[in-house]
Amino acid sequence: MIKVFLWGMMGSGKSTVAKKLANRLGYSAVDTDQLIEAKTGKRINEIFEEKGEEYFRLLEEAVLDQVLDMRENLVVATGGGLPCFKSNASKMLGAGICIYLVASSDQLVSRLWQSTEKRPLLKDSRGKEALFKQLESILEERAPYYEKATLKASAMNLDLVSLTGQVRSFQNDLGL
Ligand code: S3P
Repeated sequence: MIKVFLWGMMGSGKSTVAKKLANRLGYSAVDTDQLIEAKTGKRINEIFEEKGEEYFRLLEEAVLDQVLDMRENLVVATGGGLPCFKSNASKMLGAGICIYLVASSDQLVSRLWQSTEKRPLLKDSRGKEALFKQLESILEERAPYYEKATLKASAMNLDLVSLTGQVRSFQNDLGL
């Protein structure tokens, strides 16, 4: 069973890329935020508001463990913070191929500035300037984790054909 994990900041397109890449590889796509919402019957926003971030990170860890137990070839879109808490990054690195979808804060601002209210970690950052600063500070903290990924790809100019080829050759090299 092969698992491909997509890592990266909010707005880097993990969910969309997961579906497209899964389609090309003939795998199924899952999304950890969606699994959490299905499991709790609550939106991510509500979970943060009612129970706080620490509780959300526990749910993320539990959902990751569930995904790791799935006997299926999968492309997994992970929540932006997931590789940066607990031992989540090493669990994923030990179980499959991790791809960091790289985007700069500037690039992310243009994708996110109209939807900050929907995102618990960005909801207080109104306006492009404030959003840029908040993204820079999150990215600075997270980059050391994201950089551990097996492969990196540009989030903004993603070449899906080349990425699919890279995943396949990795798979072959690992004898999977
Ligand atoms: C988060 C990213 C979100 C979601 C939650 C926290 C983060 O997922 O898990 O709001 O800490 O970066 P996306 O990266 O899919 O937006």
